[in-house]
Amino acid sequence: MAVTIGVPRETAPGEHRVALTPDVADRLAKIGYEIIVERGAGASAYFPDADYEAVGARLAERSDALGADLVATITPPEDELGALQSGATLVGFLQPLDRPDLSASLAAQGVTAFSMEMVPRITRAQKMDALSAMSTVAGYKAVLLAADTLPKFFPLLTTAAGTIRPAQVLILGAGVAGLQALATARRLGAVTSAYDIRPAAREQVESVGAKFVELDLDTADAEDKGGYAKALAKDQQARQVELLARHIAKADVVISTALIPGRAAPVLITESGVEGMSSGSVVIDLAAANGGNCAVTKPDERIVHNGVQILGPTNLPASMPLHASQMYARTLAALVTEFTDEGAFTPNFDDEIVQGACVAHGGEVVHERVKSLTDSLNG
Ligand code: NAI
Repeated sequence: MAVTIGVPRETAPGEHRVALTPDVADRLAKIGYEIIVERGAGASAYFPDADYEAVGARLAERSDALGADLVATITPPEDELGALQSGATLVGFLQPLDRPDLSASLAAQGVTAFSMEMVPRITRAQKMDALSAMSTVAGYKAVLLAADTLPKFFPLLTTAAGTIRPAQVLILGAGVAGLQALATARRLGAVTSAYDIRPAAREQVESVGAKFVELDLDTADAEDKGGYAKALAKDQQARQVELLARHIAKADVVISTALIPGRAAPVLITESGVEGMSSGSVVIDLAAANGGNCAVTKPDERIVHNGVQILGPTNLPASMPLHASQMYARTLAALVTEFTDEGAFTPNFDDEIVQGACVAHGGEVVHERVKSLTDSLNG
């Protein structure tokens, strides 16, 4: 009998994505899996049931999808963990560093749990990098949101009614989301610039036609071995905020994406920083879910402070569900395929990718960093 992959409908509020799209379900079926899709699972991402049926997937009840050997999700069905089989595998964004209790519950249930956000950022795992895929969507959509919110044009216009100056767009944090935002803002005609603490970001910023903002601040050792930023010391961070304020004040739009994995977002725009901006300016704070890069941000709200609009959308990928689902599904399928042997999911627990992404197995929380968090919850 074929090993089954279940695709339940996502139930988190505002979620429109689906974990497997029909084209990706087809690929997994071709390497031997039977795909079980909850009826209507893809509907809000514009993938009708018929498209799944057309590639041989079986449409079924929610309990059948949740009872599969491997359950593919975006956000795990927290209130229905009891519907998962002991010994089954769950893949999704499990937020193990923010919600270690969830990893502990999955372990207690006997589930082997893979957290897509913990896939290490190494070359071999690039195709499994779901976070980068979703950040690409968020960076793009943040700019559209900014353009829609800004009471000004983005491009330079020469019209009979005079010349309109182009918008100045400043990106804070030039990682995956930031670089996509820069490229998108430039396509819309804005003048773009960006700041990042990693010196290596300069070349990438310039490669998308933006100016790199140089601060009088030594951050030469701000990058760890994995290519991620390290947190700045308190005095350095205060100095950074002070130096950035001048650049923020000149921007029509600031899109902030600064993040250090597993930590609260660094505050780069203080309340007085917002007050230094011109009336009509816009801040899109992509770090809203992690506390925000702007002190005024409230998650999923639009705040108007001194004539500046501050938006903190926490799930932009869900607002572009068709492509976001397709990209997510591809990364999930790449992980599953990497560890598929003769139609069965057989992860190699000595593999660096499995060690990075697997948080629960054999009744235990197996990821060291998550385990230290669950241990501190218990005691
Ligand atoms: P990333 O790790 O590729 O980029 C973050 C960048 O911030 C890095 O280049 C890092 O060097 C930089 N950074 C860290 N501390 C800094 C500081 N103090 N000053 C300046 N730069 C600093 O991360 P990615 O994938 O681009 O994600 C960026 C943010 O977007 C994250 O907060 C992530 O949670 C968020 N995100 C939000 C979504 C939404 O819908 N709101 C969807 C997807 C991602």
